Amino acid sequence: MISIVLRKLTEPVEIGGYELPAGVSVAPSIYLVHRNPEIYPEPDRFLPERFLERPPGTYTWIPFGGGVRRCLGASFAQLEMTVVLKELVKRHQIRPAKRRSERVFRRAITETPRHDAEVILGR
Ligand code: HEM
Repeated sequence: MISIVLRKLTEPVEIGGYELPAGVSVAPSIYLVHRNPEIYPEPDRFLPERFLERPPGTYTWIPFGGGVRRCLGASFAQLEMTVVLKELVKRHQIRPAKRRSERVFRRAITETPRHDAEVILGR
């Protein structure tokens, strides 16, 4: 997961009532958008089925950032996940190796589960 993206303003802009001058760096927060309970009720719960009722919105689901610098690999990453996860769940039952949830760990610009989210594959 990536929590924020960064932009340096080339011209002044007003955002949410704040006048920001050119040259300032702003960091739209992917994390805060995805944890906003007005957009996602019970935001801390893993509820992928919420997207069945309402498809992900352009400005409310932004794991790949947005605009002209949006992630170049977004389509590839989603295709890869679909193919790999589909094959895995077709063949195996997947359960977490540890009972407790893991802390978040920062690796360069990404955040991952502290112990790599080990799972046990069964039949
Ligand atoms: C789940 C997987 C991935 C996530 C969540 C992700 C997320 C992101 C995010 C948030 C950005 C910054 C976008 C912005 O500034 O608006 C980014 C940039 C980028 N990503 Fe990904 N990414 C993923 C996979 C990939 C893959 C598989 C590739 C290449 C095959 C890739 C290549 C890039 C490149 C080249 C950029 C820089 C784009 C630019 O600055 O113009 N990403 N990614």
